[in-house]
Amino acid sequence: MARITATALLAGLVATAAARQCQNLTIPINTSARNGVFNYAAPETNIDVTDFILNLVQPGHNLTAELLHDYATISGNYKIAATYCEPDAGPGNTLQVLTHGIGFDRSYWDFPANNYNYSYVNQALDRGYSTFAYDRLGIGESSHGDPVNEIQSWLEVSALKTLTTMLRETTVPDISTKFSKIVHVGHSFGSIQSYGLVAQDPAISDGIVLTGFSQNSTFVPLFALGGNFIQANKVAALSDYPNGYLAAGDESAVQTNFLAPGDFDPAILEAAYKTGQPVTVGELLTITGPASVLNPFQGPVLVVTGDRDIPFCGGNCTVSEPSIPAMAKQFFPKASCFEAFDVPESGHGLNLEYTWPTTYKTILDFLDKNVNMK
Ligand SMILES: *[C@@H]1O[C@H](CO)[C@@H](O)[C@H](O)[C@H]1NC(C)=O
Ligand SMILES: *[C@@H]1O[C@H](CO)[C@@H](O)[C@H](O)[C@H]1NC(C)=O
Ligand SMILES: *[C@@H]1O[C@H](CO)[C@@H](O)[C@H](O)[C@H]1NC(C)=O
Ligand SMILES: *[C@@H]1O[C@H](CO)[C@@H](O)[C@H](O)[C@H]1NC(C)=O
Ligand SMILES: *[C@@H]1O[C@H](CO)[C@@H](O)[C@H](O)[C@H]1NC(C)=O
Ligand SMILES: *[C@@H]1O[C@H](CO)[C@@H](O)[C@H](O)[C@H]1NC(C)=O
Repeated sequence: MARITATALLAGLVATAAARQCQNLTIPINTSARNGVFNYAAPETNIDVTDFILNLVQPGHNLTAELLHDYATISGNYKIAATYCEPDAGPGNTLQVLTHGIGFDRSYWDFPANNYNYSYVNQALDRGYSTFAYDRLGIGESSHGDPVNEIQSWLEVSALKTLTTMLRETTVPDISTKFSKIVHVGHSFGSIQSYGLVAQDPAISDGIVLTGFSQNSTFVPLFALGGNFIQANKVAALSDYPNGYLAAGDESAVQTNFLAPGDFDPAILEAAYKTGQPVTVGELLTITGPASVLNPFQGPVLVVTGDRDIPFCGGNCTVSEPSIPAMAKQFFPKASCFEAFDVPESGHGLNLEYTWPTTYKTILDFLDKNVNMK
């Protein structure tokens, strides 16, 4: 019995390894953006961190406006860590650019636990897409920076724009394929940035998929409090980050913000906590900015959010009709098509929950139908 299981497992491993060609890349970029200049020194102690969060969520206040001193153009040379994958049969004609959210790095899209059972990348490759997942500027193996005035939404949207332009012009070292279509798939803060990208430059993308997303910022304070945030460098695995990078305080914080009751394997929660990544105070001060404008994008738009999502729905997306995520439609008056789907029983961390097959099928069916028409 044990022997049969081991053989079956090995066959599974071989199948996974054979179905994909992936390579890790370090991409130098030069990018610039108009960032906020905040009159605020990075928190030093965990008490400073909690004070910051309490000030951020206090009703009747807009901490961003209260700390904003000026705007200034920031520019720099940075490195972006990415993983590019293509199907064994060769590059597809459509590339998916994958932008992760807060608390993760690019492994969110290709989570290695349980022999890549949860990998979105593998499902996309099976449908003939190529994938480009990167660590957002400031996070993971990409360049880190000043957590107050540098690593903000605005600079990260610019980095995504620079990367997309380089992919279109085939100037990313080691990716020579000229894709006929490039689409942007985001999760959470990565969805906000994908939204911001096409709001600034509608022609840059052939389609966007915003997962773990809505346009309603009412519930962001639940996430800020639920994260039980502490100084990231007090966590052994994150000790390289400077003060002002904040990490989830414990496993329960990750559970609260990302995983719905009954929809996850406790071992996956443990893995998500162990590989967790931080958020900067500058990101939290600018978090909703890129998605708070009307979007002139003319391509297809899909929103996919777990019905029990905390930060974007407060724990019940279908509390209204249309649902909270579906209300994003009014922000896309020119979209060629708009669809929204609430994944039943799922929370915010869609890719790490048992419901991933529904989530991935919804995304890939939409892209097959509206972008990658054969
Ligand atoms: C890419 O780097 C990650 C570590 O950041 C590693 O786990 C993974 O195996 C590498 N993948 C390839 C294809 O080399
Ligand atoms: C980076 O871009 C800025 C303008 O955006 C420019 O001033 C600077 O010279 C560039 N640096 C390099 C090394 O290309
Ligand atoms: C808070 O202030 C910022 C900066 O002035 C502004 O962009 C944002 O719209 C404000 N948020 C709200 C909810 O009013
Ligand atoms: C956000 O959703 C809640 C719950 O449905 C609703 O009460 C509130 O009006 C919504 N806010 C916006 C700005 O749509
Ligand atoms: C969400 O709220 C609606 C309206 O109150 C309710 O009918 C529905 O049962 C709730 N959803 C879940 C999954 O409990
Ligand atoms: C893989 O994911 C499926 C779908 O959620 C789940 O039922 C199964 O338990 C997972 N298997 C492993 C080994 O993680």
